[in-house]
Amino acid sequence: MLQKLHQLKDKALQALKMVSDSEELESWRIEHLGRKSELNQILHDVGRLPPEERPAVGRLTNEVKLALETAYEGKAEALKRQELERALREERIDVTLPGRPVSLGRLHLTTQTLREIYAIFGQMGFQVYESPDVETDELNFGLLNMPPHHPARDMWDTFWISDEVLLRTHTSPGQIRVMRERCPEPIRVILPGKCYRYEQVTARSEHQFYQVEGLAVGHAITMTDLIGTLTEFARRFYGPERRIRIRGSYFPFTEPSIEADMDCILCDGEGCRVCRYSGWLEICGAGMVHPVVLENGGYDPDEWNGFAFGFGVERPAMVKYSIDDIRLFYGNDLRFLRQF
Ligand code: PHE
Repeated sequence: MLQKLHQLKDKALQALKMVSDSEELESWRIEHLGRKSELNQILHDVGRLPPEERPAVGRLTNEVKLALETAYEGKAEALKRQELERALREERIDVTLPGRPVSLGRLHLTTQTLREIYAIFGQMGFQVYESPDVETDELNFGLLNMPPHHPARDMWDTFWISDEVLLRTHTSPGQIRVMRERCPEPIRVILPGKCYRYEQVTARSEHQFYQVEGLAVGHAITMTDLIGTLTEFARRFYGPERRIRIRGSYFPFTEPSIEADMDCILCDGEGCRVCRYSGWLEICGAGMVHPVVLENGGYDPDEWNGFAFGFGVERPAMVKYSIDDIRLFYGNDLRFLRQF
């Protein structure tokens, strides 16, 4: 029996040397160390041997088992290392391959223009105040001194959501919001944002566009402050040689109301297609904040006054970059957008 055990061990170790992958190793384990292996069988039968043989056979069987298990583990380790080396050799990453190009986005021309506007007004002490695109009839019109059925409402063709709710037609409702929030502090803010008008889309007008509103509320503010602010803006945005012209106008929420024109940057006031041979480009509507509007914002018009202005964002960018069709802004044509 002892000799048989020695043979069994030699045979198993011999077979292990031939094993070359993990599948073969598993078969080897089942055959030589598994439940149905010869070794296991012997271990099982030790009890049936004559008592004087039992200790020696038992001890040797355990020794053989331990030796085979140790050899098995050593082989498993060796195979694992071999596999790793093969993988390292064959599955090496080629770091010299050029990478896939990452496509870089860019800021939309409108965003760039808005940021330029924020920077200019920021230097003049104006904060940026954002207000919602979806507004109530009351804020867009009523509190701006246009009660229901006021004819001036016709100046803004409106996208209605319900009888009371609409898409803002201008950034002016933000005036009421900021006044109610800041009252009784003085105010110097710009209110940028998208506006919506139920209008035919043409090369000159879109039904969605950006405006920037300006609002200053304080004591003894004058029309001269307003004109100075607009002139300063025009010169910083378009160039130091620009001139401003003021015309009387009408808005229900300012009194008096004005419109400001700037000499045409393309022809220097000589007259061209862009300025329609007038030499002037309209830049904004403005005026002194109407007492009713101040009151609706919470300010006593006997003590407080202020100015407000509002201008579009795409049109100035069009003039500055010689863009002749406003529809290009939101047409999502990368050939256009990539130029800026
Ligand atoms: N809200 C006006 C418009 O959209 C512009 C404006 C703003 C005029 C502020 C006066 C004062 O046409």
